[in-house]
Amino acid sequence: MLATAIHERQPAVARTFATNGCVPYRCRVTERHQENDDTFTVELEPAGARSHAAFAAGQFNMLYVFGLGEIPISISGDPAQPDRLVHTTRAVGTVTRAMATLRRGDMIGVRGPFGSSWPLDDLKGKDIVLVGGGIGLAPLRPALYQLVAQRGDYGRVVLLYGARTPEDMLFRAELERWRSRFDLEIFVTVDRATGDWHGNVGLVTALIPRAPFEPQNAVALICGPEVMMRYAVQALHKRGVGPQQTYLSLERNMKCGTAMCGHCQYGPHFVCRDGPVFRMDQVQRFFGKWEV
Ligand SMILES: Cc1cc2nc3c(=O)[nH]c(=O)nc-3n(C[C@H](O)[C@H](O)[C@H](O)COP(=O)(O)OP(=O)(O)OC[C@H]3O[C@@H](n4cnc5c(N)ncnc54)[C@H](O)[C@@H]3O)c2cc1C
Ligand code: FES
Repeated sequence: MLATAIHERQPAVARTFATNGCVPYRCRVTERHQENDDTFTVELEPAGARSHAAFAAGQFNMLYVFGLGEIPISISGDPAQPDRLVHTTRAVGTVTRAMATLRRGDMIGVRGPFGSSWPLDDLKGKDIVLVGGGIGLAPLRPALYQLVAQRGDYGRVVLLYGARTPEDMLFRAELERWRSRFDLEIFVTVDRATGDWHGNVGLVTALIPRAPFEPQNAVALICGPEVMMRYAVQALHKRGVGPQQTYLSLERNMKCGTAMCGHCQYGPHFVCRDGPVFRMDQVQRFFGKWEV
């Protein structure tokens, strides 16, 4: 009953909740790329006759390292190429560190895709402002692929990305390619300049006041550490981008991914089912409170 009520309250966040995702299927690592010291990208192909399910930008899979455990990881590849399943992961603990040792040919289990997505189809004609911090660029990359593929359908497309240092930046070659396009506005900043970095230094939120978009017609998509997202929401609000124009991707501990165990509960929401992408006005009351 409660779940129905929440679904009815959900605004335009796209939802593709997989009900058949209880059993992982085996996938082989076909590509592996080290992004920086602790973050790596893998491409996975199904081991048997099956194919990967289509996914929407912002959704995640549960990845199972055999014998160790299962964790939620966003899909970082192109939604137009669902057969190329790509995940970008930062090694922080037991399962992600084990994943970091995977090499081409190794096997991993996959369930999904799960969760809500960036509601790009509903945002046509709008200026889209993507704000990413650190590993938060990974769940935003599928949205960028889609925006670039359907570039004529949107107003300005602005990416504001912050990394700790230039060496920590994800997808550097791709960022450079996007930056060379006349129809994308790409701004990158680092907390600390190293080497021959001559770009912006400072927090990603400092880019918001001078970013080129029309606040009344803009929608922001934000993903990064929770404290960064809080300041980004404030800076956007100051520019006139309100909670109904702001979407966030939230992270919580997960176990089942299918709204059954309660591990990912966030106030009245289950992040695995109702999120990870929420419109700000849905979660405003709880945002920034880890205990909810
Ligand atoms: C919907 C969703 C999407 C996600 N997408 C991605 C993604 O695309 N890429 C990615 O790298 N991670 C992503 N995460 C986070 C990822 O699931 C966790 O990092 C992972 O579960 C940690 O498992 P572990 O066993 O390696 O660490 P654990 O052994 O469980 O934890 C080890 C230590 O790391 C800390 N830790 C746990 N999670 C994080 C975190 N997110 N950041 C920093 N420290 C952490 C713990 O507090 C603990 O101190 C996502 C999470 C959710 C809920
Ligand atoms: S992970 Fe079990 S309810 Fe969300």
